[in-house]
Amino acid sequence: MNCIGSNVVKLQVVQSTNNYASQAVMTKRPEEGTVYVAGKQLEGRGQLKNTWESEGGKNLTLSMVLYPEFVAIQDQFIISKAISLGVADFLRQFVSDVHIKWPNDIYVGDKKIAGILIENSLRQGLIASCIVGLGLNVNQEEFVSDAPNPVSLRQLTSRDYDLDDCLNKLSASLDRRYSRLKEGEWEQIDCDYHEVLYRCNQWHSFRDGDGVFEGKILGVDEIGRLVIEKLTSGLRHYHFKEVEFIVNKAKA
Ligand code: BTN
Repeated sequence: MNCIGSNVVKLQVVQSTNNYASQAVMTKRPEEGTVYVAGKQLEGRGQLKNTWESEGGKNLTLSMVLYPEFVAIQDQFIISKAISLGVADFLRQFVSDVHIKWPNDIYVGDKKIAGILIENSLRQGLIASCIVGLGLNVNQEEFVSDAPNPVSLRQLTSRDYDLDDCLNKLSASLDRRYSRLKEGEWEQIDCDYHEVLYRCNQWHSFRDGDGVFEGKILGVDEIGRLVIEKLTSGLRHYHFKEVEFIVNKAKA
């Protein structure tokens, strides 16, 4: 059985590793766990058409190929949970206060250290293939884009990291979580995800289509929607981008 990172393809310069990986899946179906890692991305993609800032040679920008054909379309958020936990597990070896900001941003304190872009292709109600794109800020010292709150391991710990070593450790952490997923330990994954969910069970300010409100995150439902108890009007379930976190207005 292949594991994540047993086949690593290094690309010096590429538009986007996600594009490269999905092309590879279509043309030659690489083995499961293959990781495409870029020295530099020219058009790194973030969620919702955002771009991903990453200085060449300083960070990990990669995409891995999975074939989670055991996951039904309606359960696909479990993949996101397992992957984000794998990244969080890796980071906890170096820093504390690691959280997952729904749906799958990785935060240290109130700053974003990694972003994940998952692109699934579907067949007969199941996930046929899954490209997991990951941007992890490692040695970058300064961020210039208007991305909110970026941070790197270097900025947090004042030391440089060997990117190959990070990739090996990260692959091992991701593989552990993905193996659990394959073995059917979904309840544990769900429980671990909720344990590290950013701002869970605390009162904070949010904004939705009706304006700013005080609310408490209660969790994430089975289809990946964020469940918030609104102070004035009860429970709401939100899809991605239907609700925004308001930073620095905490009222824990
Ligand atoms: C986000 O917006 O938080 C997701 C960012 C994902 C960025 C990574 S970098 C490697 C991979 N290739 C891409 O084009 N994007 C993802």
